Amino acid sequence: MTMAAQAHAEVSKASFGKMPDGTAVDIYTLKSDAIEAKITTFGARIVSIKTADKAGKVDDVVLGYDTLDGYLADKKTYFGAVVGRYGNRIAHGKFTLDGKTYQVPKNNDDNSLHGGTVGFDQHVWTAKEIPAGVEMTLVSKDGDQGYPGTLTAHVRYTVHHNALRIDYSATTDKDTVVNLTNHSYFNLGGLGSGTILDEEIMLASDKYTPTDAGLIPTGELATVEGTPMDFRKSTVIGKRINDDFEQLKRAGGYDHNWVLRGATGETKTAAKVHDLKTGRVLTVTTTEPGVQFYTGNFLDGSFHSNGVTFSKRTGLCLETQHFPDSPNHPSFPTTELKPGEARHWTTTFTFTTEK
Ligand code: GLA
Repeated sequence: MTMAAQAHAEVSKASFGKMPDGTAVDIYTLKSDAIEAKITTFGARIVSIKTADKAGKVDDVVLGYDTLDGYLADKKTYFGAVVGRYGNRIAHGKFTLDGKTYQVPKNNDDNSLHGGTVGFDQHVWTAKEIPAGVEMTLVSKDGDQGYPGTLTAHVRYTVHHNALRIDYSATTDKDTVVNLTNHSYFNLGGLGSGTILDEEIMLASDKYTPTDAGLIPTGELATVEGTPMDFRKSTVIGKRINDDFEQLKRAGGYDHNWVLRGATGETKTAAKVHDLKTGRVLTVTTTEPGVQFYTGNFLDGSFHSNGVTFSKRTGLCLETQHFPDSPNHPSFPTTELKPGEARHWTTTFTFTTEK
């Protein structure tokens, strides 16, 4: 990150309303020469990302609401939020750490999803302006949603020309588990442009983690070879989504964790999405070991914003992460965090266009 890249970014802050208990919620606008991102302190959410298509037309490429009330009314989609303390699922909401078993809320059938009933997406984070961006902080107390240890999480959003970068860090005062990610739904055709089925995606991965009926990994790392999970070459998303393939039928589409090549902590490409109509391309790089590619199968049209209905598969998520249910799979990269350790990880969304 050079000073020159930062010099063009403008950061401003406005009110985004008040929580039912009166807590003030803010919205920050981060503007570079090529993108404008809006981030709210409610759930440290990305509200909008505006970028130009190949013809220079600017659109919002993530699903979201333009009012706080929209977010407060929607407890299902996690639009744009930082999910935690544990993004994705923990089987039966149960795990053992240092010989002690912890129970966290089962809010997804028999499993715990995205940190429980009141996850990090439902909290108002504190925020401060930083060069080219904003830093959001949340202190989750010992016992919050059943998780051990007071966890302090920082999420920094910064813009650099055509990229939005997210830097995460966390510390704890007792052994705990942590897995934070951003849950933005992208639609590179622009908000209201229909489904993402015609977009192409490349996932830089040779293996994925198959799941049981509750979408909990079985523990196996299965090859993508010869299956509709193979996105090593850029492929139209809708091409095989309805194939007679048990994993797809179970999840109602793509909703799986792909194992990225390279070591945890090393920056690598996770995915590249291409909208052929507008020419917009999104490249995702991360230091995380996995990415949950989710095709918005649970969007059911019950939420709307400004005349846009959020229907099935109108957005796709690329949740860079540690694997789901890692606390119950010692063979997966660890999500444990100990006192005195400071964990940092990063994900960057870069927007370009191709003819
Ligand atoms: C993640 C999960 C999905 C779903 C969404 C939110 O992507 O893997 O199964 O829960 O979050 O609807």
